[in-house]
Amino acid sequence: MIPLEITVVGAGYVGLSSAVALALAGHRVHLIEHNIKRLQALQSGQIPFLEPDLESAFQDCQKNICIAASLERSVKSSSLIMLAVGTPSTPAHSADLSQIFAALEDIVPLLDQTPRVIVVKSTVPVGTNAEIKAYLESRAPKAVVAVASNPEFLRQGRALQGALFPDRIVIGASEPWALELLRQLYTPLQDAQIPEALEQYRPEQAIPILEISPESAELAKYAANAFLAMKISFINEIANVCAATGADVNEIKAVLEKDKRIGSDFLQAGLGYGGSCFPKDTRALSQISLRSGYEFRLLRAVIEVNSEQRFRVLQQLEQRLEGFRGKRIAVLGLTFKPDTDDLRESLGVDIALELQARGAIVKAHDPTPLKLEQVDFSSDLNACLTGVDAVILVTEWDEYRNANWKDLGCLMQRKLILDGRNALEPGDMLAAGFEYLGVGRKI
Ligand code: UGA
Repeated sequence: MIPLEITVVGAGYVGLSSAVALALAGHRVHLIEHNIKRLQALQSGQIPFLEPDLESAFQDCQKNICIAASLERSVKSSSLIMLAVGTPSTPAHSADLSQIFAALEDIVPLLDQTPRVIVVKSTVPVGTNAEIKAYLESRAPKAVVAVASNPEFLRQGRALQGALFPDRIVIGASEPWALELLRQLYTPLQDAQIPEALEQYRPEQAIPILEISPESAELAKYAANAFLAMKISFINEIANVCAATGADVNEIKAVLEKDKRIGSDFLQAGLGYGGSCFPKDTRALSQISLRSGYEFRLLRAVIEVNSEQRFRVLQQLEQRLEGFRGKRIAVLGLTFKPDTDDLRESLGVDIALELQARGAIVKAHDPTPLKLEQVDFSSDLNACLTGVDAVILVTEWDEYRNANWKDLGCLMQRKLILDGRNALEPGDMLAAGFEYLGVGRKI
């Protein structure tokens, strides 16, 4: 392999996981983080969020990673500058590109005749790479610089695995020399020195590299997330039909997933999707389509179904409790999914606030330590369940799946559970003396 020197701007999930994966593959990585707290954590060998396997891998590859607050020193020696900064939603639901352009502002004065590629990893609307190109041509007309779209498909909770061994690598670049540099960057991933725990994920076949136009690469990222979100809204609608007809969504899932054309992933019915990606990216794609003169009706329905699903699922608990007012309810799982400490677009927090607004007395629990002001939070599951009239499982942490529900039920005023992720066995819960409510399940 030819080791490359690269700069990665932004040490969030995408930036940090990519930096570690590329360092494990033998490249020399400069990781730039403006946020002082994050920077200090990284400099002391800690990662600033919960992400399995990432911290130990980060410590293993320290010799190949250099962390800094600014990119002044690293750009000169880097042939690739990867932008992995956030692109949050604007109030109008499109992507806010201010962090991208702030990074470019810092990069421009450092560009010269040495060929460099600006690699856009952040999720950005179609046309952003062309916009960046035009910006660089006007601000640094003499610089030799290419722009490449290189979207990231990793999932939180499995970020390192996704950065090391993605299903595919997508590169949207026009200049052949830029494409060649990106091939040199990614080809060694396959043989990276990795933690033992990840060996099982090392693919036998070469990771496919798809070289497509920058516009297609930008849109492909949104298309992938929209498709996965569509699968979730689809199965949730099937669950709603199950609830109305007496069929069972898990039995239907078992039938669907045996069909290779459908596949088995992202067919878990529940309260809907949350997190920092699906809600933001589905809304952004909807905006991108509208602005280009096309209304993406299917996507609009996916978004609507998702925003209504939580209320629909809560309704059955409301009926069983004969209203929420004055009822003591435990909400289990606040992070948007297990194995993360991320609360962005958290259904747990939204549901706790909704129940409070409807007059319930809410206690919340999560296996990861969290600081919350609006909700009464306890990191002790027993304390959280003591004396409650009902419990809602919002995020399917293993701690809840493997809990001794018979003992926990003894602490509750009423043994009533709404399993918002269909994560528990109804038969076991009934045997433990619970009234069990699921999502589209036949009890
Ligand atoms: C998602 C995509 O899965 C990644 O491929 C993508 O790279 C990432 O967004 C991104 O754009 O950065 P992530 O948000 O980390 O990854 O989490 P997922 O595992 O996809 O889960 C998202 C939400 O969907 C969670 O709230 C989860 O509970 C929900 N979900 C997932 C379901 O309700 N049902 C399912 O069957 C699967």
